[in-house]
Amino acid sequence: MPEAAPRGRFGRWGGCYAPETLMENLRALEIAWEEFRASTTRRAELDALLRDFAGRPTPLTPVRRLSAVLGAEIWLKREDLLHTGAHKINNALGQALLAKHMGKKRILAETGAGQHGVASATACALLGLECVVYMGAVDVERQKPNVERMRLLGARVEVVEHGQRTLKDAINEAMRAWVGDPDAHYLLGSALGPHPFPSIVASFHEVIGCEARAQMVAQAGALPDVVVACVGGGSNAIGMFRAFVDDADVELVGVEAGGRGPELGEHAARFGGAGGEPGILHGCETFLLQDEDGQVLETHSISAGLDYPAIGPEHAWLRDRGRARYESASDAEALRAFHELALLEGILPALESAHAVAWVQTHSEPLRGKRVLVNLSGRGDKDLATVLAQRGQ
Ligand SMILES: Cc1ncc(COP(=O)(O)O)c(C=O)c1O
Repeated sequence: MPEAAPRGRFGRWGGCYAPETLMENLRALEIAWEEFRASTTRRAELDALLRDFAGRPTPLTPVRRLSAVLGAEIWLKREDLLHTGAHKINNALGQALLAKHMGKKRILAETGAGQHGVASATACALLGLECVVYMGAVDVERQKPNVERMRLLGARVEVVEHGQRTLKDAINEAMRAWVGDPDAHYLLGSALGPHPFPSIVASFHEVIGCEARAQMVAQAGALPDVVVACVGGGSNAIGMFRAFVDDADVELVGVEAGGRGPELGEHAARFGGAGGEPGILHGCETFLLQDEDGQVLETHSISAGLDYPAIGPEHAWLRDRGRARYESASDAEALRAFHELALLEGILPALESAHAVAWVQTHSEPLRGKRVLVNLSGRGDKDLATVLAQRGQ
């Protein structure tokens, strides 16, 4: 898979629209990243951590009862079984090592669902780095167990009280803090933001698709017909998709948060819902939910990890080229998928990942007889309060 073109362009998307005050940090990061990825020693260090600490490779699970119900052959890539419970640890360990390589003492991170915050706090504890996590007040409330986990792992959680008080606002705060802190590395948690972040994050998640592709061949005897992943900022999906981009017969489907409906403010579907237009957010040109004045719209999703108002630039490029398509699943469909996977397969998925399963359920007719690979990006323990509240418990 080709890396981004110079200056981080994916076709017309991406780039580095950062304020002057941030450019020095971004340039230093770009240079360090080039050194890091060229170093076989660093790569070996990361591979050892992914294997011995995080639990890679993750299994590929055939889900037979769900497959029988839907009439398709469904396989789950089990990123939920990683240490800390989601794919986010792949990137957190990678960037924490990169920060050590740069001689940094402190990690600044943002988090939405709390999974990236927990992964960052974990990587910092392991590698002896200080950790500060910025988190919107709304997310602090709906992801309480993850807030406690971060604190127990020694991180300081800074609660962000302005804007929509979710992921976008947490990123604003973390970027602001980074400007004045030369000892810190900003450990961005999804494949978004100014160059070089989208390339760095995607690269650390490529392991998902590389493993899954080889496992499909070994276990299913063939590549999948369709690969499905949920898309917040886009990191688990791009980590999975990159391995299949050159397999022309493999269809790639990203699933956005359809929320409560297609009206403005009720969803986070940058491609599929009202308000999605080209624009710039957090230093990156991409599709963005905005009003006619270019102001970023409020979003809604039952899952804290899918409500970012913009999408990673590489996804905009894949869509332009017709190489991937992007659809959505609603809150209700994701909840139904959560319960069905629990009851039929003994797996409690993260509500984010449940969106990908939900898309498969609602498309069972066209998928009949096909081999479908779903990235199960995380586990649902963090979402129990949300799920129980929906059941009136
Ligand atoms: C389990 C899980 N899946 C998916 C996402 C969405 O992020 P991304 O689109 O970067 O994979 C999150 C974000 O917090 C998450 O926690």
